[in-house]
Order: sequence, then structure tokens, then C-alpha cells
Amino acid sequence: MWIKVLGSGAGGGFPQWNCNCANCQAVRSHAPGFYPRTQSSLAVSTDRLNWLLLNASPDLREQIAKTPQLAPSHADCVRASPIKAVALTNGDVDHVAGLLSMREAQPFSVYAARRVIDALGANPIFSILQPQLVPLVELQLDKRQEVSGAQIDLGLELLPFSVPGKIALYLENKHAPNFGTQAGDTLGFKITNTKSGKFFYYIPGCAQFNQSLSDRLHEAPLVFFDGTLFHENEMIDQGLIGKTGSRMGHMNIDGPDGSLKAFEKLNVVRKIYIHLNNSNPALNDFSREHAIVTAAGWEVAKDGLEIEL
Ligand code: MLT
Ligand code: MN
Ligand code: ZN
Repeated sequence: MWIKVLGSGAGGGFPQWNCNCANCQAVRSHAPGFYPRTQSSLAVSTDRLNWLLLNASPDLREQIAKTPQLAPSHADCVRASPIKAVALTNGDVDHVAGLLSMREAQPFSVYAARRVIDALGANPIFSILQPQLVPLVELQLDKRQEVSGAQIDLGLELLPFSVPGKIALYLENKHAPNFGTQAGDTLGFKITNTKSGKFFYYIPGCAQFNQSLSDRLHEAPLVFFDGTLFHENEMIDQGLIGKTGSRMGHMNIDGPDGSLKAFEKLNVVRKIYIHLNNSNPALNDFSREHAIVTAAGWEVAKDGLEIEL
């Protein structure tokens, strides 16, 4: 199975269009240790011909242009795409807006939780993806789903599970507990190659660690995990927005409730932070924070990273 990191940044990407923080300034000026990042998404394939996308970022067009495997090949018909399916971990703008770049009457399947399908259905702009060409397939929590699209079996199985999170920003109800979030609004995926049995986990958003996640991820061969913020207050401290990591539905890397601590005893073979916000000091390869995460055995995803599993 091949896994390609199309994008490793959080919503807004790196640099973010309107952000003048120290990190965004540094990456704009090509400072050593800083790498631009598009908004997070993975492409997965068992044959390098047909691909599943994990989330469709607003940067998808650029990501496809940079990834020759995702372009139609000379042998294809006049309209074609190697992308046969998209699976969504939630309904956030940075995970669904790329679907709009996939219009043009091309068949593929979309896999998502019921409430995400409903959110797409409630917004007429997504009807540009014609239902007879682009079926929206409902994922059931903890139920295995074989992945296919455009009549092609991708040889992949998806196991969606609920992780602590927050409903998409544009659906927040400020009068309801946790803004109206329900179980299943944020998914983690276990993705398995049905032939080889090899698997990995994709969890780009997670508000809190718990025992069920510990049990699930123990000794996993590969986990991509929420690396949005290093510190709970870093966006406030940098004067960006007045929100903590918890308020945004992202656990932090640092601290007693952070992901560094949570993964300490899990013996995960390869662990990679993804969905990094532009405020995260670990984005600087020469920072103290980057040294801390790498000393703990983590990698910080960069766009274009390719893994064979
Ligand atoms: C998030 O990851 O918290 C969201 O992408 C925020 C947003 O919608 O801008
Ligand atoms: Mn996001
Ligand atoms: Zn910034």
C-alpha cells in the first residue's frame, strides 16, 4: 500500500493567506527550516493506479497538479481520474471544500458519516456533484467498509470510529453542550489493505485522548495524528485568534493531557503529526519544540511525504 501526504497543514495552510505571525513570515521569506504546507489530505493506493483520498482539501487542485500519479494517464479516455473515492473524517471546510474542485461530471464515491452527508446535502453548492455519478456512502461507526468507486474495487477497507472532537465551525450551536457536537462528528480511520492485511490510522483531528484510543493504537505500525497546536494557548499568545486548542476541538502536543504524553507508552512503530497549524512552533525544523517531538520518536509531516506499507 502506498500513502502520499498531499497536504500536512491545518485549515488555512502554511503560510495562511492573511497571517503575519512569525512562522508565516518566515516561510514566506524562505527562511531555513520552514516548508510551505497545503491543507491536510492523504492519498492511498494498493496499485498506484487507483487512489482513495482521505479528506478533500481546498488545495486539492494544487495537490493534484504536484502529484503525477493523480493525473489522467495517456492510456485513459478523454476524461479520466485515478481518484476513485474520497473518505471524510468530518465536515470541516478544510476537509470538504476540495470536493468542489472535483466537479466536471467525473464518477467517484464519497464516504462520510450521516451528519456530514446531511451537511453537504443541505448546501446546494455541493449538488454540483451529481448523485448519479458521485454516490455519498454513509459510514457506520465501527463497521468495516470496503472502498470502491467508478466501479473499481480499491482493495482497501475503511474502519471508521468516533474520536472526541467538535462539530464543524459553520454548524456550531452556541447554546448546545459542546456546540451541538455528537458522536461520529469527528472520525478516525483505520485503513487496511485487504490483500496484505497491512494497516494504518488517520486521525487528523482529536480533542482528547481516551482509553479506547489507547487500546486501539497500541503497537500500531503507523499513525498519522492531530498535530494542530503545540501549546493550548499558542494562538492567543501570538495574538492570532482568542481560541485555545480545546475550544477548537484539538488536543495539544505538549502538556499533561497532550499527545506526546498520551503516546509515550503505546509503542506505535511510526507516528507522524499532521494537520499542523501555522502557529505551531514545531513547524520550524530548528526549533526546541521540533527537537522535543523528534526526540520522542515523532515525525512532523511535510507535503509530498510518501510511505510504502
Ligand atoms: C479545525 O480543524 O479546527 C477547522 O479546520 C477549523 C476551521 O474550520 O477553520
Ligand atoms: Mn482543520
Ligand atoms: Zn501564521
